[in-house]
Formats: sequence, C-alpha cells, structure tokens
Amino acid sequence: MGNAIVTGSASGIGAAVREALDAEGHKVIGIDLRDAEVVGDLSTSAGRATAVGQALQAADGVVDRAVLCAGLGSHIEDLPLIASVNYFGAVEVLDALQGALERGNEPAAVVVCSNSARFGPFDEHPFVLACLDGDEAKARALVADENGFIAYAGSKHALSRAVRRRAKPFGEAGVRLNGIAPGPVETPLLQGTRDHPLYSKGFDGLDIPVGRLATPAEIADFITIMLGPRAAFMLGSIVYLDGGNDAAMLPERF
Ligand code: NAI
Repeated sequence: MGNAIVTGSASGIGAAVREALDAEGHKVIGIDLRDAEVVGDLSTSAGRATAVGQALQAADGVVDRAVLCAGLGSHIEDLPLIASVNYFGAVEVLDALQGALERGNEPAAVVVCSNSARFGPFDEHPFVLACLDGDEAKARALVADENGFIAYAGSKHALSRAVRRRAKPFGEAGVRLNGIAPGPVETPLLQGTRDHPLYSKGFDGLDIPVGRLATPAEIADFITIMLGPRAAFMLGSIVYLDGGNDAAMLPERF
C-alpha cells in the first residue's frame, strides 16, 4: 500500500475515508484546517499551494490515492467562500497532484461531488461557467449575489463537470479519476444545514426511498472500492450514492 492524500480529513466523510484507507495500510496524509498531517487552508490559491507542497513532501512526491473531500455546506453565509473551497479547493489541488499521481502504483483519485449538482438549471449558469473557466475572482463575484443553494449545488455541478473533463487526460496518463455524488450523509456539515432556518427547509419532504440518511462510513467504503483494483475499469464516472434520492426526484434522467 502507498501514499494517500485526503482533503477534509478531520471530519465527516473525509475522516471516515482516512480511517478506511488507514485500515487498508495506506500512509494517509490529511489536509484540513485542523487535526491533520498538513494543517492548511484550501480557500485560497496560496493556501492550496502551501498545503500541496507540504503534502507532497510528506509523500516523497509519489501519490497512489487522492480523495478531494474538503467542503462547506449551503448554510455558510460567505457564499464566495463556498465557491473557493468546494470548487477551486478541489480542482486546484487535484491538478497539482496529477504529476505525483502519475508516479503512483495503480493510482486513482475520487472527488467528492454531490447529488445536488443536478437539482438546478446549472448547464449555462454564469457562476458555473466561471468556475469551469478557472476564473476564481469572477466566480466569487458572481456567486456573492446568489443564495446558498446556488453556491453549493452550482459549485458541485461545476466540480462534477471538471471531473468529467479531466477523465480522458488523467486516464491516458494512467490515473483513474472518478467522482462520487452522495445524498444526505450524517455529518457536521449536514447538521449545519439542518439547523439553518432557511436551508433546513430543503429537508422537508426529502424523498429518500431507502428511508434514511447515509453514514460517513458507507460513503467512505464505496470510495475505497472506487480507488481500488475492483474498480480498475471505472474512469470518469460520477457515482450517485444517495439512497435513491436522485432517481426519485429525476426518474426520467440518468
Ligand atoms: P464536514 O463538515 O464533516 O467535513 C468537511 C471538512 O472540510 C472539515 O474537516 C473542514 O474543516 C474541511 N474544510 C472546510 N473548509 C476547509 C478549508 N478552507 N481548507 C481545508 N479544509 C477545509 O462535512 P462532510 O459532510 O463530511 O463533507 C465532506 C464533503 O462531502 C464535502 O465536499 C461535502 O460537500 C460533500 N457532501 C456532503 C454531503 C452530506 O450530506 N454531508 C452530501 C453530499 C456531498
């Protein structure tokens, strides 16, 4: 087993991923604001560069697994911050790790997206397009006048497309890149959304056919499958792991 870099490793899904990869025997290098091998801030370009530099130093420049998990919920008042962490904090780190992943053993990366990415008219949304253009200043300015749902789900929509766009170049370089789109998972992020007077309303009547929320360990288990040899033919997939929520809301789309 080799080196695994996990962003957002201090809490929720990221903490469960770090535990699962640790149990598989990987050397896990977590990046988070606190309680991590690399304590750093992924909300700025400079913070990302410093954190990636320290993580790559700890990995001796070779990365076998990467999980881009750090994120903020729709209840966060600072909407540009949601864009900076959820989209740019994932994509910039992923791109910065590509070379080290190419030197890894059967390397694979999973980006934690969200099934909310399909719950809006996002295809041509200016905020989404600014993200995809890599224009962080423009994306931050555009999202400032929106609401938490657009900031969160729009950043996850852009992130899913960023994964799809990179699947071919990463794959041709020998790195399997996929995304996972969880539905509601019992974590502090979700609790923050549920505690918010406005965004908690999104949970009223939420249709989850399996009848419950996911645990972080369930999502982490699936991520380890996506990272490992049983998923050797999986590339560029956005896997919905949401108890049937997406199918219930959008039964005619796939
Ligand atoms: P969480 O709040 O438990 O964990 C998020 C982690 O990201 C925290 O440890 C936090 O410190 C870290 N983080 C936040 N801002 C950061 C920054 N600027 N720099 C470095 N680290 C930072 O949340 P959860 O639920 O585990 O979320 C993990 C990912 O899963 C997020 O990307 C989220 O959008 C996604 N997700 C969560 C769902 C849920 O229902 N909980 C559903 C779908 C996707």
